[in-house]
Amino acid sequence: MARVRVGVNGFGTIGKRVALALEKQPDMELVGVVKRKPDYIAMLAAKKGFPIYSPTVKEAEAFEKAGFRVAGTLEDLLSRVDVVVDATPNGQGAENKKIYEKFGVKMVFQGGEKPGVAEASFSTLCNYEETVGRQSLRVVSCNTTALLRLICTLDKAFGVERVRAVIVRRAADPREVKKGPINAILLNPPRLPSHHAVDVKTVLPGLDIVTAAVVVPTTLMHLHHVTLKLKTAVKAVDVLEALKIAPRIIVVSSEETGIKSTAEIIEAARQFRPMNDVPELVIFEESVAVEGGEVMLFQAVHQESIVVPENVDAVRAVTGLAATTEDTLKITDKTLGLRKTLW
Ligand SMILES: NC(=O)c1ccc[n+]([C@@H]2O[C@H](COP(=O)([O-])OP(=O)(O)OC[C@H]3O[C@@H](n4cnc5c(N)ncnc54)[C@H](OP(=O)(O)O)[C@@H]3O)[C@@H](O)[C@H]2O)c1
Repeated sequence: MARVRVGVNGFGTIGKRVALALEKQPDMELVGVVKRKPDYIAMLAAKKGFPIYSPTVKEAEAFEKAGFRVAGTLEDLLSRVDVVVDATPNGQGAENKKIYEKFGVKMVFQGGEKPGVAEASFSTLCNYEETVGRQSLRVVSCNTTALLRLICTLDKAFGVERVRAVIVRRAADPREVKKGPINAILLNPPRLPSHHAVDVKTVLPGLDIVTAAVVVPTTLMHLHHVTLKLKTAVKAVDVLEALKIAPRIIVVSSEETGIKSTAEIIEAARQFRPMNDVPELVIFEESVAVEGGEVMLFQAVHQESIVVPENVDAVRAVTGLAATTEDTLKITDKTLGLRKTLW
């Protein structure tokens, strides 16, 4: 069977990881990536042998001056692919959409775009099957992807009636030297709900959910405290059992491993995983409690990589490469080496 041809526009934190993941898919061909500046991140594309395209002819000159081979412009790439994954900065995707439409390619956008950029917002565990065959999808943000993985896993097992979550956001990605805060806890925003609840509802419109968020001076991961009212009476052990067998979730015992922080998760990832990446959602085992009919837990979210498997699945959804959630999970999770432990 011919492989689906995919291009990635934007080769930063998300785009480079998505490109590395697409390259591993047996049913996809990574045709090339678009980068704007010929810097050290572009060097990764060159070293990996990914054909490099520039947004326009103007940027191509700078690449050639810096010794890179340029395969063409964004428009050239679009003429050679079936699907484009847009991983350019917030808002740029909506601008790019006009060019994508001119070439009639299928589109996958990121959570930094407004929901209206695509026909549907996307989360593999919640709505893969409903989105098969769409022209465009938007993979929701890292925090929303994490919340939806948890909510849809527990909904499938027990039914979820209500969700309340406090989101402790990392201030910046590790390489972003100009962002803050560097000595404050910032309400994000002061008025509830934070945009995460609104974003969750783009996938689960009927859900009763309120989120509050703060930004803290860290770059490693986000941390959530989530409280869920389920439709079935459960014990903590039942919830843990459901989480332990769910795809894309790792349950980590602080008592057994000594891991009680995002720093220790990333240190474990440094020891055992390429680029420190933890695309799985990490739930702290001893934090799972049931009080007054509500389930509570802490979960940690590696913002740089959690949306990568969902991007791969979104390519399968728009092209119809896999008809069911199980089919796409099987291929994506195996090729990306997703597992039930950090090691
Ligand atoms: N970072 C996260 O934690 C995270 C998590 C989930 C979702 N997202 C979403 O993913 C999207 C991308 O975010 P990111 O963090 O990966 O951004 P990023 O690291 O800043 O990368 C953006 C990439 O787009 C390129 N670019 C900039 N302007 C462009 C243009 N006009 N045309 C083509 N390429 C252009 C940049 O190239 P140059 O570097 O050469 O300028 C860079 O390679 C956003 O929607 C964001 O909200 C981010």
